[in-house]
Amino acid sequence: MNYNQIFERLWADYIANNPHAKKVYDLFHNEGELVVNDHIAFRTFNEASININALAETFLDNGYEKRGEYSFENKHLFAKHYEHKTDKLAPRVFISELVLEDFSSDFQQIIRSEIKCMDKNILLSDELIYSGNVWSKPSFINYEKLKKESEYAAWVYVFGFRANHFTVSVNHLKKYDSLAKVNSFLKQNGFLINDVDGEIKGSPEELLEQSSIKSGLIKVDFVEGEYEIPSCYYEFAKRYNDKDGKLYSGFIAKSADKIFESTDFYKIKD
Ligand code: NI
Repeated sequence: MNYNQIFERLWADYIANNPHAKKVYDLFHNEGELVVNDHIAFRTFNEASININALAETFLDNGYEKRGEYSFENKHLFAKHYEHKTDKLAPRVFISELVLEDFSSDFQQIIRSEIKCMDKNILLSDELIYSGNVWSKPSFINYEKLKKESEYAAWVYVFGFRANHFTVSVNHLKKYDSLAKVNSFLKQNGFLINDVDGEIKGSPEELLEQSSIKSGLIKVDFVEGEYEIPSCYYEFAKRYNDKDGKLYSGFIAKSADKIFESTDFYKIKD
């Protein structure tokens, strides 16, 4: 399989479930910009059947190899990033996993019982990265319980396995060639920027700057009824050359730590 087919399939699911993300894409596309994807990200738990390595398989089978590793102690997360061995235009893939042992027994019980009931056919196939919510119909009570300890876990519990975000490569934009320009264009068009620790995470000195919109709110059908919660977000990345003149291709843990908060729960104020 060509890796492009993987990303096309993930993109189709992403825009179908996140109309706000499609709007962002259209905004830049309509400005005549070429929207190139810097990376996509997945979220999961550190259980062997569905951990980082399990999700990475599809990519390793299609020309990717492992590059960086990252630790997020405060969020109890660990991550790896993957790149295509030869094609420099292929998007990077960032996969993180939550360290379940760090959480309360109640919390672990909710997640582990869902993992136990997973359809084994999905685990045996190449479908895991496209499979979305593979758990039972979510309960809003469980969602809230998980959210108290980890917003990340609550997100995975509802949305499961799909691209958590796509990322526009600002290096490939012509008119909007800085994060500041991108952010002000997004704000003019009514999007909320994740401003935890400032709108722009990272700096040219760190060789990577990132920003993101807050996840769009979508209605989800819970056991208890419909609730509006944050889904996926769109991210922007600008990379800089290192001292040897080579474009920096990794991630900055300190920046990514705050970007994770783009899916934190919020409500639109009336
Ligand atoms: Ni990202």
